[in-house]
Amino acid sequence: MSRFSGWALSAALLLALGACIKKRPPAEPAPSAPSAPAAQTSGSAEAPTGKYGQVQGVELSGGIKAFALQGKTERASVSMVPVDGQPFHEALRAEVKEKSGNTWDVQVATRVAKPVTYGDVILATFYVKAEASRQESGEAQTELVMELARPPWAKSVEYPVRVGHDWSKIYVRFKAERSYAAGEAQLIFRLGYAPQTLQIGGVTVENFGKQLVLADLPTTKITYPGMAADAPWRKAAADRIEQLRKRELAIVVQDKAGRPVAGAEVVVHQTRQAFGFGSAVVAQTLLGKGNERYKELTAELFNTAVFENNLKWQPLDGDWGSGWTVDVASKGADWLSAHGIQTRGHVLVWPSWRNLPRSLKRLEKEPVKLRAAVNAHVTELATAMRGKLVHWDVLNEPFDNHDLMDLFGDDVMVEWFKAARAADPNAKLFINDYAILSGGGGDTPHRDHYEKTIKFLIDHGVPFDGIGMQGHFGAALTGPEDLLQLLDRYAKLGKQIWITEYDVELEDEALAGQFTRDFYTTLFSHPAVGGILMWGFWDGAHWRRNAPLYRKDWSLKPAGEAYRDLVLKAWRTDEVAKTDAAGTYKTRAFLGKYALKVSSGGQSKTIEVELLPAGGPVVLKLD
Ligand code: XIL
Repeated sequence: MSRFSGWALSAALLLALGACIKKRPPAEPAPSAPSAPAAQTSGSAEAPTGKYGQVQGVELSGGIKAFALQGKTERASVSMVPVDGQPFHEALRAEVKEKSGNTWDVQVATRVAKPVTYGDVILATFYVKAEASRQESGEAQTELVMELARPPWAKSVEYPVRVGHDWSKIYVRFKAERSYAAGEAQLIFRLGYAPQTLQIGGVTVENFGKQLVLADLPTTKITYPGMAADAPWRKAAADRIEQLRKRELAIVVQDKAGRPVAGAEVVVHQTRQAFGFGSAVVAQTLLGKGNERYKELTAELFNTAVFENNLKWQPLDGDWGSGWTVDVASKGADWLSAHGIQTRGHVLVWPSWRNLPRSLKRLEKEPVKLRAAVNAHVTELATAMRGKLVHWDVLNEPFDNHDLMDLFGDDVMVEWFKAARAADPNAKLFINDYAILSGGGGDTPHRDHYEKTIKFLIDHGVPFDGIGMQGHFGAALTGPEDLLQLLDRYAKLGKQIWITEYDVELEDEALAGQFTRDFYTTLFSHPAVGGILMWGFWDGAHWRRNAPLYRKDWSLKPAGEAYRDLVLKAWRTDEVAKTDAAGTYKTRAFLGKYALKVSSGGQSKTIEVELLPAGGPVVLKLD
């Protein structure tokens, strides 16, 4: 190897102005979703049989008349009203009088009298229209759900619907995600939204069993605002990315005597992006034998990872059987680190009985001990992992998981953050919740509660650094302008924002691909966002078997193509160029780490530099 001496190399880093995000008035509120929503529809590449219209389905719903009000019934009133000019003659009119915390607080539902078998192909058809809505968009909303009519409410479909004042015909095709005995399932239209009046009619839910495949059935095209190729947000986002995520990199090549070297070849190779691009991973899969493709892709695609379950209290306490130890998590973090990947910790406290370890339940009647046990867990786990994690999700899903806050008051959250900070002062501490970005734009109780909780923590002097937004999307896709507006809302709280658990549950892979491209672009363009992690990247290891990037057979989905285009190509800087007469090469490069290689006259030298958002020129004196 030729040793290259006598050149000086300098990288000048220039500051750019912060980005400015355009505001627009709020859009309609969106449904919040349970933390583990079932598939909207299962993706399927099965070829159509062409038999739709020729085979008879079994009707499951009993029509709209069969649906009765359920839950917090004082919040809504329902009646049947006549309808003209439609293929049905009456509709259920639901007037929602009071806003709910959860979409399922009030709903109309009917039992499914017939049995349904796992994998059955089902088509729901119904008509909805908004009669009155307080939203500027004039839209009303509901969600069609088919689920087990008792815990764990196992779902086969959750399909959010937003409609205007004209009757909209909606087709929802899906497969039964489990078998339900006769009378075990229920069909639901959710009503737990802001005050609105809507009508629902013409309901049929046909079960075609295994006679048809999903592709045979009609489907309502899902869209989101801002999908169009010429949508104005695109140029604005590209401009912000240019300003925010890149800086000028100036390389000056000089010989030993300080004279510029013209025509030197410069190879600019980005070794690491500053922005966090990540995924949830499974420590056992990384550490186990085999799984080569999983390991290779983890190393290729991501600079950040989070364990899907390895640091959760339930598994660590033995509730999930053997194989879940801090040692496994710790070795998993070592594997990631050896591959240049930083690890987020998820999660110290998920404060509901259903997400806390069984052993804790013994202390339910001994509040002093219970409180101490939770604090001790935070201290022990954060201490055990100290130095291995860049972030800790200290508190998960407070909107829907608050048994401990109900027992001890909100102050108890403050203790968890303080204990985490004391145990691992270098990890950035996060709060994390769902349905903040997903479900469409606007204000929702879930979003209001998150903001209130974050303000509470700030007001109580809680040492924390970041706001986590999960990002599990269903069919109600939030358009870029709405996403930006939501990000602005939380950015005002002065913390960095990370998208912690992105995925999108759509039958239409092409649409999921387009949305993923637009979602990543929008988020990457917002100044408060530090990183995006998806909740698994491969269908072979994904909680909904619908990972963004790879199918089970490792073929790439459209969203995978979008991710690879953006993250591995468009948003990193890799260039080969020649210095000018002044011995200089200047380029705008993405923030992060670089290996810069210069060659001239048979000699070459590689140096590593980090392009930071701010700072003076990096000057290298060579011997
Ligand atoms: C999920 C995991 O993906 C599943 O494997 C596990 O059985 C349950 O938890 N929000 C969160 C994550 O914060 O921890 C959840 O992960 C998904 C929803």
